[in-house]
Amino acid sequence: MSDTVSTTLEDGIAVILLDNPPVNALGHNLREPLFRALEAAKANDEVKAIVIACAGRTFIAGADISEFGKPPKAPSLPDLIGLLESIDKPTVAAIHGTALGGGLELALGCHYRIAERSAKIGLPEVTLGLIPGAGGTVRLPRLVGPEAALGIIVSGKPIGMDEAFSLGAVDRIAEGDLKSEAISFAREKLAEEAPHHHIRERSDKLQIDDAAFETAIEQVARKARGLTAPVKAAESVRNAVTMEFGAALAREREIFLERVASEESAAQRHLFFATREAAKVRGVGRDIEARPVARIGVIGAGTMGGGIAMAFANGGLPVTLLEMNDEALARGLHQIDRNYAGSVKRGSISEDEKTARLARIQGTTSYDALAGCDLVIEAVFEKMDVKRQVFGALDKVLKPGAILATNTSYLDVNEIAAVTSRPQDVVGLHFFSPAHIMKLLEIVRGDRTAPDVLATALALARRIGKVPVVVGVCNGFVGNRMLAARREQNEALLLEGATPAQVDKVFTQFGWPMGPFQMADLSGLDIAWNNRKSLGQTAPIADALCEAGHFGQKSGRGFYLYEDGARIPIPDPDVQALIERKAAELGVERRSIDAEEIIERTLYPMINEGARILEEGIATRASDIDVVWVNGYGFPLAKGGPMFWAERFGPARIVERLEHWHGRTGNALFEPAPLLRQLALTGGGFASLA
Ligand code: COA
Repeated sequence: MSDTVSTTLEDGIAVILLDNPPVNALGHNLREPLFRALEAAKANDEVKAIVIACAGRTFIAGADISEFGKPPKAPSLPDLIGLLESIDKPTVAAIHGTALGGGLELALGCHYRIAERSAKIGLPEVTLGLIPGAGGTVRLPRLVGPEAALGIIVSGKPIGMDEAFSLGAVDRIAEGDLKSEAISFAREKLAEEAPHHHIRERSDKLQIDDAAFETAIEQVARKARGLTAPVKAAESVRNAVTMEFGAALAREREIFLERVASEESAAQRHLFFATREAAKVRGVGRDIEARPVARIGVIGAGTMGGGIAMAFANGGLPVTLLEMNDEALARGLHQIDRNYAGSVKRGSISEDEKTARLARIQGTTSYDALAGCDLVIEAVFEKMDVKRQVFGALDKVLKPGAILATNTSYLDVNEIAAVTSRPQDVVGLHFFSPAHIMKLLEIVRGDRTAPDVLATALALARRIGKVPVVVGVCNGFVGNRMLAARREQNEALLLEGATPAQVDKVFTQFGWPMGPFQMADLSGLDIAWNNRKSLGQTAPIADALCEAGHFGQKSGRGFYLYEDGARIPIPDPDVQALIERKAAELGVERRSIDAEEIIERTLYPMINEGARILEEGIATRASDIDVVWVNGYGFPLAKGGPMFWAERFGPARIVERLEHWHGRTGNALFEPAPLLRQLALTGGGFASLA
């Protein structure tokens, strides 16, 4: 007996119960007593069959992620499963909640699996930059066939019981009490004459169409977007088909250990915990209850408002969508309809689902229609006057306790709150475009935002599948403020001698989905131009391009040329000539610029700004900044976010390079933040600040 494992013997059936809250992760504190319990059950003649079940909210949710990267402690998970497979008495895994990663691998070491109908099983290792390391890629193909196994393993997505049962991954669905049905199931199996086969002894499912399987494997590599884990996982599934069982298992373990030691996996593990940390907010303990939210109001049916309405409707919440007049409303609703039709065409939702989602969105042109809403979010023009007007109107119509939210991307939430009689109910909910797709939600905490308003925003974010990060009030909050710091140097690099294609290539090689100039062309140069004009700002090259009618992809020319409506950016000699002309006009000396300089001048200022954001308490922890950048701006997953990436070189190196560029350019952007200097002196990292 131990704290985490207990065995009871019920008329010849040993029930081994695991209890390692919160999710029964297979840490050493569980592996070691479980190993002993299995040995005892194996040796005990009174035990005729074994059931492995879990207490608490779920079956084993995987290895203990916090143990990766630390020295391994015996028994390992493969030792444990090896022991299971040496037992001839029928073994049954009784699954409720989620059997994930090592949890499913352990269940695959049993002869049989019984599960509650609501259970899920999966191998999410690739989402942590790993591959299953205890037989998952070798046993699952033998159980469900290599192609089905490949899909489950490289997606990392758990599957429900309908699919699991039809694939044969689960032998029986328990409709009543899981433990007693598992015991009856074990008894039934015991009574059967037929021998009990472990998965390792089965090979009938391995007969496959080689060509189709190879095509599926090639597709994995194409879709991996620079991540190594899915490609390695697919290789391991192939080994399960082409190699003998023991050899495939040994090779899987080798690849797993390589992956555990990789930077990619360290980055993704960091993000796993960072995402969960981000939901823990100062002053918002478990005792703070979220307010009930049954109906959402959205003001503005443009791209942003429409996207926000869809995000809530997709999460099952009814939405009242307000526009100024019938025409604008009809346009907005039509666009939403088209977006959903696109999803149906791509096969991501059914026609019925489209109808259901559309039915949740009700249009209106009257503020009175918002009276019944529990939370209203505005996505109107980014001007303080306009925002203040909207909040004044909302204050008049909304019921007491309703939450008033703004989707502003940089304005002062405190100033907006001040026009209402209830600043405690005002919060920023900054969505990212397209709002129904991008995962990030910056929740902006005003000086007077009430804790239960934050709790409600956090709960709501989870309900609609967003990743929330609570941030403080400042110009641009966390994401856009750091973006502005990164953007500053783009034009300077061009003037000094880099080409748009060169800069973009450095970005994509770093792992961004696209570079800044391709991005500018995609979003439209005219939009940024108008913004600059209204703020009295200039950008010599982009302004000149706009004056020459280069508005980006939509006009066929921007920083690049686009031929015949195609989206492929072609370097444009006219743009090059324009850049050189501007450099001459401004007296900028041109020289050759290398990739390292491009990285240092665009990404180091971002990290510097991140340090200022931490100093000012706009973000609570460095890892919150990473969550923002990975989920809202396409920062490469494999690098774990800007602050995590910066730790690789350490603050001292960043300070040294910032000082170098500060000396050369005199630009205040490169002046190291005091916090960075302090960390450089003490030798601490950002993680040490949390
Ligand atoms: N190892 C270590 N800690 C884990 C863990 C794991 N495999 N899985 C979850 N946790 C921790 C979380 O960090 C969290 O800790 P916290 O409360 O201190 O923040 C706690 O368990 C609860 O997890 P959470 O994700 O908040 O709960 P949930 O109910 O929303 O989801 C799971 C439960 C199991 C679906 C989810 O935690 C999950 O997907 N876990 C990872 C599974 C996995 O990848 N396993 C393979 C490992 S190789």
